[in-house]
Amino acid sequence: MKKPKNYVTDVKAEHHAEIFANRLKNRYRHLARRFKRSHIDVFRLYDRDIPEVRAVVDWYQGHLVIGEYIRLQTGPKWLPFMAQAAGEALNIPRDKIFLKQRQTQSKTGTRYKPTKSKGKRFAVSERDLKFWVNLTASLDTGLFSDHRDTRVLVGKMAKGQDFLNLYAYTGAFSCAAARGGAKSIVTVDRSSVYIDWAKDNFKLNKIKNPAYTFARCDTEKYIDFLNKKKRRFTLAFVDPPSFSQRMGKSSFDINRHHVGLLEKVFTVMEEGSTVIFSVNHQRFDPKLNRLKTKRIKELTSKTVPEDYRNKQVHRCWQIDL
Ligand SMILES: C[S@@+](CC[C@H](N)C(=O)[O-])C[C@H]1O[C@@H](n2cnc3c(N)ncnc32)[C@H](O)[C@@H]1O
Repeated sequence: MKKPKNYVTDVKAEHHAEIFANRLKNRYRHLARRFKRSHIDVFRLYDRDIPEVRAVVDWYQGHLVIGEYIRLQTGPKWLPFMAQAAGEALNIPRDKIFLKQRQTQSKTGTRYKPTKSKGKRFAVSERDLKFWVNLTASLDTGLFSDHRDTRVLVGKMAKGQDFLNLYAYTGAFSCAAARGGAKSIVTVDRSSVYIDWAKDNFKLNKIKNPAYTFARCDTEKYIDFLNKKKRRFTLAFVDPPSFSQRMGKSSFDINRHHVGLLEKVFTVMEEGSTVIFSVNHQRFDPKLNRLKTKRIKELTSKTVPEDYRNKQVHRCWQIDL
């Protein structure tokens, strides 16, 4: 492999790059054909499989998104060096490889901060749905593919339901509920960039229904509004960030505030309804036994897809009211 200019020769890094490249080739061979058959364009190729190469690699329809958590040990040249190895292994040109460096949990909530759309977006398939992704605009791409099987589940539950999608991001779950035949849908996110993106995803899937609406609003404020209007739902998907700033209140911390948040969501749910609750905090400490309802079942082993080696990339519960 050609070393980047000024790369400090490091025999260990070269050895790691070689085993990383071999692993990628094997995983691609193992997964690509099967996902193609199911019309799945986005999947995880590499999930920190080798302890020395603590990166994740996602396949986006012929593009690679390679991420690492910023660590002092690796230095600035490590990730480009591994990216070069990945590109050569899978024959992907450099302009189709995108590098993302994440901080470990930021308490400022900036992890999901959207940037106005710079970079080019393109559409990817996920079974019978399509979504816009943008690999350059921000740290996240517009699609959380670890939830692709959760979307199937929500789609199957949605027929005839009044569906509330909270912290909806780009509306992928709303599209799944629409495909599944939801009677009404409200897609709520406080970011106008993501609400517009969700509307674009609806258009992309030719989903048009006056009973499907969008709200650019803070979740808790929106629940107050729904209560004033006496609006009720029979199915909800609640996928809050781990941390988020709240106006006029202490910042939201999933570990401290999830019970209160869920009790608040329940105030707009009909009796006999279902709430799917999801968390991606890697040190989440669930206190769901404090909820009034005891009909709670963890779905994580069913919702994390086979290509994710981290079987708790998210955790997910079904709460029946
Ligand atoms: C974890 S992502 C949700 C992912 C989404 N459910 C999916 O699977 O595509 C968190 C989202 O919550 C939104 N958000 C953060 N704090 C919020 C708040 N207080 N009210 C409404 N939305 C919020 C962010 O803009 C972001 O889109």
